[in-house]
Amino acid sequence: MARPKIERPDFGGPFPEHIAVIMDGNGRWARGQGLRRVLGHSEGVHSVREITTECARMGVKSLTLYAFSVENFKRPKAEVGFLMRLLSKFLVDERPTLMNNGVRLRAIGRLEELPKNALAALRETERLTERNDGMLLRLALAYGARAELADGLRRFARDLAAGRVREQDIDDETLRGYLYDPHTPDPDLLIRTAGELRVSNFLLWQISYSEIYVAKECWPQFRRPQLLAALEDYARRVRKFGGLVNDAPAPKPDTTRSGMRAR
Ligand code: IPE
Ligand code: IPE
Ligand code: MG
Repeated sequence: MARPKIERPDFGGPFPEHIAVIMDGNGRWARGQGLRRVLGHSEGVHSVREITTECARMGVKSLTLYAFSVENFKRPKAEVGFLMRLLSKFLVDERPTLMNNGVRLRAIGRLEELPKNALAALRETERLTERNDGMLLRLALAYGARAELADGLRRFARDLAAGRVREQDIDDETLRGYLYDPHTPDPDLLIRTAGELRVSNFLLWQISYSEIYVAKECWPQFRRPQLLAALEDYARRVRKFGGLVNDAPAPKPDTTRSGMRAR
């Protein structure tokens, strides 16, 4: 089956190569509909499918979705169990959609903390999609940025002790090498849904210079129009990375007496 052709929207500005999303507000959406919280997670799967497909068709190179944090294990057992069953089902059901859109799936996080069947479904979907050459879909599962740094530091300590790395060689890039997936460039755009102004332990190292966009909609309501609104907003951003852009000379300060008085 031929892959849909890439159709990138043009908002007259930059387009993000890597988008990361904190998919929040499933519970609130369900409550607002008079439903049980967990049904918000089921509904959220439709948004995952639509946003993944849309991003792949728009030519986004990487999409990282925060699906389950290491802290989310603190939730009631029934909700965690529901989410894990939903994850296993998603990983099987989505295979045709991923294949048809050329999407490669990879997970980041403390994957060994996932239930056995979810981990097996994950490994199989990763294997089936590994030769796809379209968008990379990264699922952050049992993920925490502090856990990622701690896990990396542990491996680093071992390498240091074994002489595989020397203290004087440590720089930003050495550190990146100890993250879960060092070869995927940092997110250009970080989206959080449901209006919350937090990063909730997501990719703390990698989002240093990401542009942040907060959507008021809960995740189950975040679909193509909301994605386009985020992309339109991103197209207006000026990324400076600490440097200067448009370094035109500043207008001369008015130091005449009248100018001074006028201020
Ligand atoms: C996001 O929705 C999904 C996960 C964290 C797994 P929530 O379950 O956090 O929904 P709210 O924020 O309670 O509404
Ligand atoms: C962040 O949402 C984690 C995921 C989206 C998977 P949470 O709902 O867990 O975050 P807090 O607790 O509101 O910060
Ligand atoms: Mg939440």
